[in-house]
Amino acid sequence: MSFDFDSCPDRSTSDSTKWHKYTGRDIIPSWIADMDFISPPEVIEAVRERAAHGVYGYPAQRDRTFEAVVNHVKNRHQWTIGKETITFMCSLVPGIHAAIRVGCAPGQSVVSTFPVYPPFLNAPTLSERGLLKVPMAFENGQWTFDWVALEKACAQPEAKVLLLCSPYNPLARVFSREELLRVAELAKRHDLLVCSDEIHCDLVLDPKIKHTVFATLSDDAASRTVTLMAASKTYNVAGLTCGFAIIPDSGLRTRFRRILQGLSLDQNIFGMAATEAAFNHGEPWRLAVIDYLRGNVDLIEKELKDMPGLVLRQRPQASFLAWIDATALGYEDPHAAFEQGGVGLGNGADFAGAGHVRINFGCPRDRLREILRRMKAVVAKAPGRR
Ligand SMILES: Cc1ncc(COP(=O)(O)O)c(C=O)c1O
Repeated sequence: MSFDFDSCPDRSTSDSTKWHKYTGRDIIPSWIADMDFISPPEVIEAVRERAAHGVYGYPAQRDRTFEAVVNHVKNRHQWTIGKETITFMCSLVPGIHAAIRVGCAPGQSVVSTFPVYPPFLNAPTLSERGLLKVPMAFENGQWTFDWVALEKACAQPEAKVLLLCSPYNPLARVFSREELLRVAELAKRHDLLVCSDEIHCDLVLDPKIKHTVFATLSDDAASRTVTLMAASKTYNVAGLTCGFAIIPDSGLRTRFRRILQGLSLDQNIFGMAATEAAFNHGEPWRLAVIDYLRGNVDLIEKELKDMPGLVLRQRPQASFLAWIDATALGYEDPHAAFEQGGVGLGNGADFAGAGHVRINFGCPRDRLREILRRMKAVVAKAPGRR
């Protein structure tokens, strides 16, 4: 089956966060993490069917949606779970907050690496918990953990929760089993609750690389982990607000659910229908979109060769996001410079990575070509190049 990712509906007049930001300005949005593609036909059909029903009262969670998740994680990630381990919620961010509050009392601390998806950095503070920040390291040609710094942070007596982004936004790393085993060993030794956000796990771009679900590493890892997942990134249904946590340990699950009650709405009825359809029928589309995204990465790598001063340290292994070091351009605020040049990139400062920008390449190739053309013009005028 073939899908057309080259042409997409106009989103500038739709209710899109990504596009609304630049309404009326000639700036191509390439920031917040959703794609411009239409979802798999089966997902659209499921939402249409649900809409046609005409009654949109409070949702019940039906067995078939739990089964779709159980089958999905088994078939794609060789993870066997019972449906009782699943907790649906309206989005994953409340899940991050709930995991922090379960594992960590006020005055205690959360360990997070950076640069990272901004809620990892904001959530501890908003929940009045401390934050121990550990920089990611670039070694032997790849982004990885700074093991010495991570060990030091995890060993602090106040450290109680470790936030893990796997695959990693914004560095687009898919961690190896060996790296994750080291993280699991650290978590066990320092008795940390792990919140493993695996929302990008179904968009691994490199066919030679396999995502490992953290909780499958050992019984100990499973018992101390809140795994967060959703269909939202992979099948482009973030606006339908449906995510889920998988928590095998019943005590941890009970406490997580109690806290979550005050933080998250139930999932959306359309989100349930979309998640079910995506997991049950979306595989051909998923494989096709991955193939298309891979082509977009090729284009980025090719064009960046002509943009001295912009550095993509490592080819993205997952997702549709590329983290670019723009410090050598000499702009005080590279994000603002690119905006002035007509491209609305992710601002590295929001990820604790000032001087960097994040391209969202989940868009038609022609649009990406234009984004890169505009970026090239900004690079050509950069103070660092004069
Ligand atoms: C790592 C990570 N977690 C969570 C989210 C957001 O999930 P949700 O829309 O379900 O809150 C994102 C969105 O970019 C993300 O990158």
